[in-house]
Amino acid sequence: MPAAGGTTHNLAWSRMHESPAAGADETPRAIARRIGKRFRRRLHGGYARSKLRMDPAFAAATRQLGGTAMPVLDIGCGLGLLGFYLREHGYAGDYFGLDLDAAKITAAQEVADAHYRGLSFRVGDARALTGFAGHVVMLDVLHYLERDDQRALLDAAARCVAPGGLLVIRNVLREPGWRFRATVAEEGFIHLVRWLGSPPCHYPDRAEIQAPLEAAGLACTVEPLWGRTPFNSYLIVGRRAATGAGSAGT
Ligand SMILES: C[S@@+](CC[C@H](N)C(=O)[O-])C[C@H]1O[C@@H](n2cnc3c(N)ncnc32)[C@H](O)[C@@H]1O
Repeated sequence: MPAAGGTTHNLAWSRMHESPAAGADETPRAIARRIGKRFRRRLHGGYARSKLRMDPAFAAATRQLGGTAMPVLDIGCGLGLLGFYLREHGYAGDYFGLDLDAAKITAAQEVADAHYRGLSFRVGDARALTGFAGHVVMLDVLHYLERDDQRALLDAAARCVAPGGLLVIRNVLREPGWRFRATVAEEGFIHLVRWLGSPPCHYPDRAEIQAPLEAAGLACTVEPLWGRTPFNSYLIVGRRAATGAGSAGT
């Protein structure tokens, strides 16, 4: 991971050095299948395929990051699906994935080494985030941390957002209603089947995410990201002004 304020990345979004071969099937289903087939373990491949097909988070994050060449730090990257999805959609900048789960990081790095250049994965704890400058993404990670650790991570992640960069968060928000209850039930199930090592710790509400981002000088938008799922997921985007105005903490 480059140090904050370090390397400038000038790779153009349009430099599609990992673009699929001409004539390749480019439907969302075909892209999900192609990424899934690249995992050595069938469990990972099947998970990747269905996750990429069903979950609107990858397309939403790609829409936000589209057109820029800034490096991307994906905190709690899991199997690295966002990195592969970004490459499949023409993002040619550097991508760094960080996750606690060594098995997932190994699987992600294997796929990257064989198929996608410029993607690096590292085992690490988001609570000890080191320097970085660029876009930062966190898809479904925050609620695995305790409330105070969430606040510290949001502060640290916001400091990593470069001028003109984004902090893109997809997370369940604590709210009254059946969607939130359905999400809590699903989280209990995936912990039970041991797909995720740690259980959810604290479900943040909207203000718990938005306030630290705004305090760090990011302009925030919050919108539902339900797709065809029953889950209470939201897309929260913090944007740092390109001029450097409002870049407190960087
Ligand atoms: C629900 S998964 C999401 C994976 C990925 N972002 C995606 O959307 O495909 C949550 C991930 O966060 C990781 N995680 C949880 N706590 C973490 C921490 N303190 N530091 C780094 N990663 C963490 C887990 O290992 C897991 O891979």
